[in-house]
Amino acid sequence: MKYKLLGRSGLKVSELCLGTMGFGTDNGWGADAATSFDIMDEFAGAGGNFLDTANVYQKGTSERIIGDYLANQDRDYFVLATKYTLKDNQTNPNASGNNRKNMMRSVEESLKRLKTDFIDVLYLHIWDDITPIDEVLRGLDDLIRQGKVTYAAISDTPAWMVAKGNTLAELMGWSQFIALQVEYSLLQRTPERELIPMAKHFGMTVTPWAPLGGGALTGKYLKGDTGRVKPESNRRNENSERITKVVMEVADELGVSAGNVALQWMRQQGFSCIPIVGATKLSQLKDNLKTTSLILSDEHLKKIDEASAVPLGFPGDFFKEENVRINSFGGFYDRVEKRS
Ligand SMILES: NC(=O)c1ccc[n+]([C@@H]2O[C@H](COP(=O)([O-])OP(=O)(O)OC[C@H]3O[C@@H](n4cnc5c(N)ncnc54)[C@H](OP(=O)(O)O)[C@@H]3O)[C@@H](O)[C@H]2O)c1
Repeated sequence: MKYKLLGRSGLKVSELCLGTMGFGTDNGWGADAATSFDIMDEFAGAGGNFLDTANVYQKGTSERIIGDYLANQDRDYFVLATKYTLKDNQTNPNASGNNRKNMMRSVEESLKRLKTDFIDVLYLHIWDDITPIDEVLRGLDDLIRQGKVTYAAISDTPAWMVAKGNTLAELMGWSQFIALQVEYSLLQRTPERELIPMAKHFGMTVTPWAPLGGGALTGKYLKGDTGRVKPESNRRNENSERITKVVMEVADELGVSAGNVALQWMRQQGFSCIPIVGATKLSQLKDNLKTTSLILSDEHLKKIDEASAVPLGFPGDFFKEENVRINSFGGFYDRVEKRS
């Protein structure tokens, strides 16, 4: 396992992050506590230190299992990321959302379930389209100053809002978002339009969720295996199956698993990327860890890219047009150093 710096910080995290949404069975699927412990043992044994959870995963059981596990481990070795925002509460209007009141209460509850007195990375889980971004950043910065949280990060939020937040934080001397968590995989490449270029510009690490398309990209459904992705899901529609078949072809040529190819593809896209990989069985994690020793050739990357690319739309595609690019340099297109 190698380590990467998480965004513009000095924090060293393993090149794969372990997704723990499937720790617990409260939602009718997932791994029991004993299997979750085995998965964390295997991950840590391989050098993994980066764990991803959320207050709501398996109704809080994911955090509880991690807390029980960490109680008998070197807590400080792990970089523990959790999230606030979501909560099913029919009586209190402030028990969910991005607001500061919910943020503070949610963190206190997470700390109890996690049996720790600090969270290494706190993500805003999903943008609520209500709370001012300065309220969010100031709240996160206060939690950091209190020592309850070490770094701030953000998930599932429009690029322009994250950009506004980080710019404001820089001006105000507040902690900026260092990581961006978004759904990104060979079955979901639309973050390439705005979110990933934005993250690159701000030096943020992208931490893709569902990098295996919830398991569809392992090819297991095409082989008749079962799992939690429903047949009517867009991860198993005609287009997704066509892409998955290409991934499986490349995997066969290399003698590796299709999941390894899908994970490695995103790690070779030229931006800081740490996939958050889920596993509900120990054998799945063991397979996923092998990704770290795979390198895809340019030829294989091209083949996969051609099968899965999405149009960038406006203005991305417009900027790519040769005449626009050349004209924006006046007569100097060949004489000016281009930024990558
Ligand atoms: N920020 C957000 O909004 C958000 C949303 C979703 C998830 N997340 C985070 O991202 C993590 C990953 O998301 P995810 O679990 O949906 O997606 P994923 O990593 O794409 O898929 C994980 C699932 O794929 C299957 N799988 C994994 N490795 C396998 C292997 N080697 N062979 C065969 N099947 C394999 C398992 O499915 P089965 O259990 O069906 O066997 C596993 O539960 C979560 O744990 C969570 O931490 C964040």
